[in-house]
Amino acid sequence: MERTLILLKPDAVQRGLVGKVLSRFEEKGLKIVALKLMKITPELAAKHYESHKERKFYPGLVKFMTSSPVVAIALEGIDAVKICRTLMGATFGADAAPGTIRGDFGVSRSFNLVHGSDSPEAAQRELGLFFPENTLHYDYAAYGWIYDPIEELKKG
Ligand code: RTP
Ligand code: MG
Repeated sequence: MERTLILLKPDAVQRGLVGKVLSRFEEKGLKIVALKLMKITPELAAKHYESHKERKFYPGLVKFMTSSPVVAIALEGIDAVKICRTLMGATFGADAAPGTIRGDFGVSRSFNLVHGSDSPEAAQRELGLFFPENTLHYDYAAYGWIYDPIEELKKG
């Protein structure tokens, strides 16, 4: 099982799309292991987007992400990082394929509704930033019908 950080960005919250976007992940079979509405501080935004510090779009990105609350979510599943990125679609709404979150709900380059960790290593780092209090561990009844144990065993 892998865990990943998802952020429903300020545009998703302000446009009333929290439920719809969260449903995409839940309906796919990802388990919610932490969830909170929060305002990102400039310090947290700087740590989170550290790798983009030198990019031209960085100041606008930090301003946007700290402008209004986000919903921070930790999701769990086999290959959770990759599956969430696929559900999100390409970075810019206008390029994102229909059926993806960004493809269905937006057209913007910067207001692109959702963030997802881009590797298992990034996920670990970002989960530590957003959920220093740790994520939960509990039995998820749906897993029994989401994963075929025989198929998973064969994959090794
Ligand atoms: P995210 O980190 O938010 O999940 O998005 P991503 O991996 O798909 O894209 P990334 O390259 O990490 O960029 C982070 C965010 O910066 C904004 N951006 N603007 N050229 C631009 O105008 C530009 N490039 C990136 C986007 O909001 C992107 O989500
Ligand atoms: Mg990224």
